[in-house]
Amino acid sequence: MREASASAKIILVGEHAVVYGQPAIAVPVSSLRAVADVEANRPSGQGLRIVAADAALTLDSHPDNPLVITAKLVLRALDAPAPDITITVRSQIPVASGLGSGAAVSTALARALSAACNHPLDNETLNAIIYEVEKIHHGTPSGIDNTVIVYEQPVYFIRNQPIERVIIGAPFSLLIANTGIAASTRTAVADVRKLYETQPQRIRAVIEEIGALVVKARQAIETRAFVQLGLLMQQNHRLLQQLTVSSRELDTLVNAAMKVGALGAKLSGGGRGGNMIALVTPETAGAVQQALFQAGAVSVFATTVE
Ligand code: PMV
Repeated sequence: MREASASAKIILVGEHAVVYGQPAIAVPVSSLRAVADVEANRPSGQGLRIVAADAALTLDSHPDNPLVITAKLVLRALDAPAPDITITVRSQIPVASGLGSGAAVSTALARALSAACNHPLDNETLNAIIYEVEKIHHGTPSGIDNTVIVYEQPVYFIRNQPIERVIIGAPFSLLIANTGIAASTRTAVADVRKLYETQPQRIRAVIEEIGALVVKARQAIETRAFVQLGLLMQQNHRLLQQLTVSSRELDTLVNAAMKVGALGAKLSGGGRGGNMIALVTPETAGAVQQALFQAGAVSVFATTVE
């Protein structure tokens, strides 16, 4: 049996503006993973079976399923017939919450399938495949999710440009708190586009301001200026509010974290629900975690960026 996996991710700064060509920074959350196991247990000629969340899929039975689409794209890239295997995909990553669960399960599956075909995909090809899958399911994604997940490294991402690695000057800790509200990134992205169309000047200024703070955030991360990073996260949250992608629940969690000493806090990802992140120190982590639960978080997950 062979196993492949992929990590979750979180966007630190720059979501939404990244769709319009501004930079954003995202980091892998390597302790939360999607895993794909391969078993060569199918009779000859039976082809590929994918088991995910207790559903069994074949290439013909569920043509619109993202995992089936992923498998077909992998086989096409390799110019290989479907092997007679079962791939079982499991994920610890909460869905629809900005942690990249869809891209991670597709990446794990693609890695397992290509390895089973004896042609493990290189990251560049894999990234292009996962981006195709993301486009089918998320409308007009920037490509940041698939990139950070496939490369599993902190990235400074600008759409359609070669990825740049962010140097982490010193490890830092984030708490990721879930509002418990599943929100559609696709809808949020479409709403921002409508807003942009109705108020182009104002929204362009907000988007450019986000881009400028991302440049500063990269410097702050590289030079260990975490107080500055926290301030930039705050500023980013306020600008995301102006893009209408925050929510009462997200604002409540952000305020609760700040009140008890987080260095910075903001929504992360598509917004309207899903997750927020708080930048904490070892001294403040406990109090911030408690405050987040009291303010309504359904889960709080600690991760170190390094
Ligand atoms: O909701 P998530 O974490 O998948 O993040 C989406 C990030 C956006 O910038 C809102 C959209 C995109 O495609 O970059």
